[in-house]
Amino acid sequence: MSPTPSDGLAIEIRPIRPDDKQRLAAGHELMSSETQRMRYLMPKPRLSSAELRYLTEIDGEDHVALVAVAEQFPEVTLGVGRFVRDRERPDTAEFAIVIADAFQGIGLGGALAEQLAEAAIERGVRRFSATVLHENVAIRALLERISDRLAEARWSDGAGELLYELSAA
Ligand SMILES: CC(C)(COP(=O)(O)OP(=O)(O)OC[C@H]1O[C@@H](n2cnc3c(N)ncnc32)[C@H](O)[C@@H]1OP(=O)(O)O)[C@@H](O)C(=O)NCCC(=O)NCCS
Repeated sequence: MSPTPSDGLAIEIRPIRPDDKQRLAAGHELMSSETQRMRYLMPKPRLSSAELRYLTEIDGEDHVALVAVAEQFPEVTLGVGRFVRDRERPDTAEFAIVIADAFQGIGLGGALAEQLAEAAIERGVRRFSATVLHENVAIRALLERISDRLAEARWSDGAGELLYELSAA
């Protein structure tokens, strides 16, 4: 049975770990193909072993990721957000986030994003870049919440590269 918010879950947000691979793969399968497409900008029915390694075996400094897991459903992630520092511009990091469909719109993405913005500022990151589909209003609302200013927006072929300045902690 898939978890839903009406189960009254105790949801914990914590750093991702290498042993989250199976949890992340199961969480990915909880998502609709539309949610997967919003996150990866293309159809992504499953995550490969190489992708799962990349997504979970991180250094916690230049690549930081947080997961949301419910105590009652420990075998799946309900959401995951991350930032990866840009090697050319160390004060900028690529931001990405996804929340399982049944848990969208209840503040979980906002909570993850706020904790990620805090972790970013502590590590000298001042800007988040994000690649988003044009129709994705929710991600823009979420990024506006943790940002003072949209510094740059470049759109082409229905997708945009957005650069947000993070609000000071
Ligand atoms: C974008 C996403 C992460 C937002 O997470 P969420 O848990 O649903 O968001 P929250 O409930 O915390 O709401 C955050 C903000 O987004 C707004 N929002 C959420 N869903 C929305 C929707 N469908 N339309 C418009 N705004 C929306 C909320 O009103 C809130 O804004 P506020 O702070 O001004 O009130 C989630 O919808 C998702 O996983 N989408 C698919 C994956 C994706 O698009 N990833 C982005 C690629 S980087």
